[in-house]
Amino acid sequence: MRTLEWEDNKLKLIDQTKLPDELTYVYCETYQEVIVAIKDMIVRGAPAIGVSAAFGMALAELAGEDMDKVAIEMKSARPTAVNLMWAVDRIMESDNSALDEALKMFQEDIDTNMAIGKYGAEVIDEGDTVLTHCNAGALACVDYGTALGVFRAAHSQGKNIKVICDETRPRGQGASLSVWEMQQENIPVKLIPDVASGYLMSKGMINKVVIGADRVARDGIANKIGSFMVSLAAKRFDIPFYVAAPFSTFDKDISIFDTEIEERSADEVIHYGGARICPKGTEVINPAFDIVPKDLITGVITEKGIIDLNSIENFEDLF
Ligand code: MRU
Repeated sequence: MRTLEWEDNKLKLIDQTKLPDELTYVYCETYQEVIVAIKDMIVRGAPAIGVSAAFGMALAELAGEDMDKVAIEMKSARPTAVNLMWAVDRIMESDNSALDEALKMFQEDIDTNMAIGKYGAEVIDEGDTVLTHCNAGALACVDYGTALGVFRAAHSQGKNIKVICDETRPRGQGASLSVWEMQQENIPVKLIPDVASGYLMSKGMINKVVIGADRVARDGIANKIGSFMVSLAAKRFDIPFYVAAPFSTFDKDISIFDTEIEERSADEVIHYGGARICPKGTEVINPAFDIVPKDLITGVITEKGIIDLNSIENFEDLF
């Protein structure tokens, strides 16, 4: 399954706002349409946002736009996933045409995820029940996925694993996207309310956690809101907590605590299943991302192997 593809000089995207009920596509013919698709979360997930932005830059170049201006607009589509800035900078710095570079990034994303899957499967044991949060699957990338790629790889090696997805309120990417992806692959999967993971861990019903990331820095990671609470519960019960992410998600320049956290619309919290769930006029706080400090992370599974942020002496040597 390709989350995004270059087809007839257009960017073809799975419309993730329609899943799991409808598998439909949106075609972007201009860079402005790509920006709208990223803002409206038709395409979402750090690597998928990055490669989509690269194709958006290609559309802009083919249309003869002012690329410096487009780069600024594109980077402001969403603030937290570092892949977006990485992809736009890479296009701007490349000697290739924007389209050639975007096509290269498209293939690299697939190869990278396969490598993450290979390294990640080494820490998944026969019989494991693994919790994941949000969607770090094929739908968050070009294909295969980071965290869900680890489960795909372990499953394809014949390991009997069970996956638990939490709902991931308020937008429900765990329920609507991760459960759907695992069902497509016939990997055993169950859905739990976000608030249930601590209880399941206390009962020995979860023995590993693997999540994705929107940013990896020297002192921790940023990922979907709720990731920090899951990491705290995992620490309480000595459950290994892994983060699967490519180097395109790494940020060597800042402390993770300086990450800009996207604040999304109050409507996402006020409404559930189309109905208002709180009194009219209720004020809302709706941060979309969380910070997990490195002491709560067992390892970061990358395409070059597994990195322990707590034991590397010089983070910059990784690049
Ligand atoms: O707001 P989203 O759906 O774009 O957030 C996505 C996540 O937080 C994912 O877990 C993360 O991007 C990792 S994707 C491989």
